[in-house]
Amino acid sequence: MQQGAAPVAVALDAPDLDRAAYWAELVTPHVSTVKIGLELYLRYGPDVVASVRGASGVKVFLDLKLLDIPATVAGAARAVSRLRPEFLTVHAMGGPDVIRAAVEAAPATRVAAVTVLTSIGDADLAMLGMPEPVGDVVRRLPVMAVDSGARGLVCSPHEVAAVRAEVGPDVTLITPGVRPAGSAADDQARVATPEEAFLAGADLLVIGRPITSAPDPGAAAAAIAASLRRVGAGAVTGHAGGVRSR
Ligand code: C5P
Repeated sequence: MQQGAAPVAVALDAPDLDRAAYWAELVTPHVSTVKIGLELYLRYGPDVVASVRGASGVKVFLDLKLLDIPATVAGAARAVSRLRPEFLTVHAMGGPDVIRAAVEAAPATRVAAVTVLTSIGDADLAMLGMPEPVGDVVRRLPVMAVDSGARGLVCSPHEVAAVRAEVGPDVTLITPGVRPAGSAADDQARVATPEEAFLAGADLLVIGRPITSAPDPGAAAAAIAASLRRVGAGAVTGHAGGVRSR
């Protein structure tokens, strides 16, 4: 990773491995992290990590959203920990034992808990036997996840400030749903600009299509990095979570 690289994880939601590796090569001078999701990982297997990491040393965020019984999650986390991902996601809905299992099995990785998927609404929760509104669950799960050892949380930019107030300064808050001013929202319902997300307290911004669908992904990443530098991001690097001083 370059000194001063922006606290951005570029979502490499690519149709094939060559494209993912190409995007990674273009953006790694400008961002701290690249994110590999389930589709790419399941299609190409663990080798995908070395392919996108290349020689750059960029941090890898394995967004596998693990959810199973604790022993199975522990086995899965142990299996991927040898790939040295900086971040690994686990569903908070698995409960404390599942989160703890992942944390203990992958001690060198920052396990990040996904609270409630943005595709889930109040009616879905009710059907699952959870009568609370999504907003209440989103505030409750982070505390449970952090108490269980999670050192990262995935949440919307609109929830960052509330979640930060609940969990304190040491947890890496990771936010998708980030769109530079003027770019298409795509299928993201509630978006914030990179500057807004950072100033709200996010430590790592997940950004995919605004960078990877741009005519020049490297230039798009550089522009976002520059906009974040203007609000004080990227001044401090080397922290596992890309956490900045403000
Ligand atoms: O292209 P875009 O910037 O919308 O990509 C966002 C990335 O963040 C995708 O990889 C998507 O799976 C992920 N994500 C999300 N919303 C969540 C959790 C993850 O968009 N709530």
